Amino acid sequence: MTDKYAVIGNPIDFSKSPFIHGEFARSLGHDIAYTKILGPIGGFKEAVDALRAAGGRGINITAPFKLDAFAYADERSPSAELAGAVNCLKLDGPRIVGENFDGVGLVRDTVHNLGQPLAGRRVLLLGAGGAARGALLPFLAEGPAELVIANRSDGKAQELAAIALRHAPAGTSVRASGYGALEGQRFDVVFNATSASLRGELPPVPASVFSGCALAYELAYAKGMTPFLRLAVNAGVTRCADGVGMLAEQAAEAFAWWRGVRPRTEAVIESLRVPLE
Ligand code: ATR
Repeated sequence: MTDKYAVIGNPIDFSKSPFIHGEFARSLGHDIAYTKILGPIGGFKEAVDALRAAGGRGINITAPFKLDAFAYADERSPSAELAGAVNCLKLDGPRIVGENFDGVGLVRDTVHNLGQPLAGRRVLLLGAGGAARGALLPFLAEGPAELVIANRSDGKAQELAAIALRHAPAGTSVRASGYGALEGQRFDVVFNATSASLRGELPPVPASVFSGCALAYELAYAKGMTPFLRLAVNAGVTRCADGVGMLAEQAAEAFAWWRGVRPRTEAVIESLRVPLE
């Protein structure tokens, strides 16, 4: 019997999830149907209830419903709790479980696909919104030497750093920073988890952070050479990435969680990659 899954968002037309999960299923010989649901604003619960009633086994959640999904879940993983957002629900058990695989997907892409370990390295995370929060636990699990969280509004960076500190392994130092105070500091890997690139803006990060930097990673997907990546390249960074690998890896985590087998991601990443130019 065909197993039913879906992604819900508003808007939803742009979503690559049906393609990604369709490719995963095809590569593994699984029989699934994965559809897009345009969720009515204020109507998340009814839409997911309807999918469940129709036998739906799982659903991915994109903007603006990640908080609704958080509330819908009977229980949530530590990553979802910390992110305050759920991007994946398992619907076929007695209790609805919520997960957030964005951060784990980001780390998997960075370490495994891009070959840049975070263990023992100096990591700079730009932004303190939902995307940054989601990355926190998976980053800390890698044991970086240093994790610096920089944000425009200082209070949010402080708040996130305080949470991170509670989860940091021995040997990882964590601190918050304003952008100006980053001048003269160097990092091995720099992640842009702000939403600035969605509007073609540049977070006010000094170019000096890229001195000796091995990887500049833009979490946004398919925005080409964003102002952040351009700054990194102009500062001499030779390795840049956008969020295509993160997108595929979070989907692979969801697929594995739902279906017990982790698909390979290389082919999907290659077919979704938009050149950085
Ligand atoms: P998301 O879920 O994408 O993380 P969010 O929770 O609204 O979205 O958070 C957006 C993040 O991008 C915030 O850290 C925000 O900084 P502030 O907290 O100071 O507002 C950051 N951001 C957005 N536009 C930015 C810009 N032009 N420069 C720097 N940071 C920016």
